[in-house]
Amino acid sequence: MSLIKISEILNGRLENQEISIRGWIYRKRQGKNLIFLLVRDSSGFIQCTVKKNSAGWNEAEKLTIESSLSLKGLAKPDKRAPGGFEISVDAISIIGLAEIFPITKDQSTDFLRNVRHLWLRSRKMNLIMKIRSKVLDFTRTFFKNNTFVEVSPPMFISAAVEGGSTLFDLKYFDQTLYLTQSSQLYLEILIYSLEKVYCIAPSFRAEKSRTIRHLTEYWHIEGEWPYAKMSNLMDFQESLLSYICEQTLLNCKTELEELEIDIHKLKLVKSPFPRITYTESIDILKKKGSEIKWGADLGYEEEKIIAQEFGRPLFIYDYPTAIKAFYCKTYKDKPELAMSVDMLVPRIGEISTGGAREDDKQLLIDRMNALGLNIENYSWYLDLRRYGTVPHVGFGLGLERLLTWMLDLDNVIDSIPFPRTTRRFYP
Ligand code: 4AD
Ligand code: MG
Repeated sequence: MSLIKISEILNGRLENQEISIRGWIYRKRQGKNLIFLLVRDSSGFIQCTVKKNSAGWNEAEKLTIESSLSLKGLAKPDKRAPGGFEISVDAISIIGLAEIFPITKDQSTDFLRNVRHLWLRSRKMNLIMKIRSKVLDFTRTFFKNNTFVEVSPPMFISAAVEGGSTLFDLKYFDQTLYLTQSSQLYLEILIYSLEKVYCIAPSFRAEKSRTIRHLTEYWHIEGEWPYAKMSNLMDFQESLLSYICEQTLLNCKTELEELEIDIHKLKLVKSPFPRITYTESIDILKKKGSEIKWGADLGYEEEKIIAQEFGRPLFIYDYPTAIKAFYCKTYKDKPELAMSVDMLVPRIGEISTGGAREDDKQLLIDRMNALGLNIENYSWYLDLRRYGTVPHVGFGLGLERLLTWMLDLDNVIDSIPFPRTTRRFYP
């Protein structure tokens, strides 16, 4: 008798065969002569029936919600059972008898987030985590197909990438180091050896913002590409997003269905995406009644208005230099504009930022001085402009924001197994 996954029964392949499964009790209902167990494993749920006076009855009576067990029985079709199949149980072996499980029906989102270590067993979280894993696979495949090399940047760093206000510092023996906000500068080092590179790694932000799109630790998909232009960067990102959506539709059908995701929105993700300049975005906002002035950064509210207007992913490019990081390349004839581009999606706003990097040593030094950065901390970064500098572009895409949008989640918190926010770091 073979040990199988529940999904193999639900697929109809094991009809009327003796099988055994291992799993946990999701629900239990006891009648006079019959006990119904709803058993789950990583692949799905199945109804198991235990008859009075059968070999499994005594053990079935003892079973509590979330107890772990293995059982043997006959897999057979049953129209009344959820999923259309059930197991008629011959024998049960209890592996771990559970105490009273704290999660019951209709509990608040806040409570469920407080018992995340147990809530991760729920079907919803199971499905989200499966799609998350697949999206990572698709992302890697896309980079690989485009001859990017995956690299492993450090998390402990000695100088800020994205400005001091969101930097976590930490005691590192007798020195102060920081947690990386982005691996960009390290990817820039590696293009001089490997050319096209990417990484999927954590980034950290000491961000007090309590929105649906902010975590203090998130997973960052970042790529860096020598000799490419802004238009290549936008083409690449829209192809990446289209590929991820297309593959998810193809390979995660059952998960999307069970989560009741609006797949129409995913089907709409096709090149080309609308591309508007920052200046055009300000005009749109003004027409919509916003009081925003040219030069101000777009916040969550503004981004939502613009993304809503287009109803699908879009790019905003050519931002004011003054609101962009020190490494952004500017236009020679218009230094007030930076070659920076954000990708926005409805409801979430920004999901990626990228652009061309300043490859001229003196212009970079001037900009760093203007921003009051300590040049000494970045001497290795300036070396990249000293020794064989090349024009290059890159971008960073937030995995949790992407998933939150794709899966219609209420908050980025639900797209990552162990969310870290200002308030949450347990377990
Ligand atoms: O816009 P950001 O700060 O850009 C960078 O870090 C660049 N150095 C990336 C690069 O060019 N390699 O962050 C990039 C993306 C954002 O668009 C957003 O999706 C995500 O990272 N992100 C966050 N996600 C969740 N919580 C936060 N606090 C985030 N901050 C940024
Ligand atoms: Mg950004």
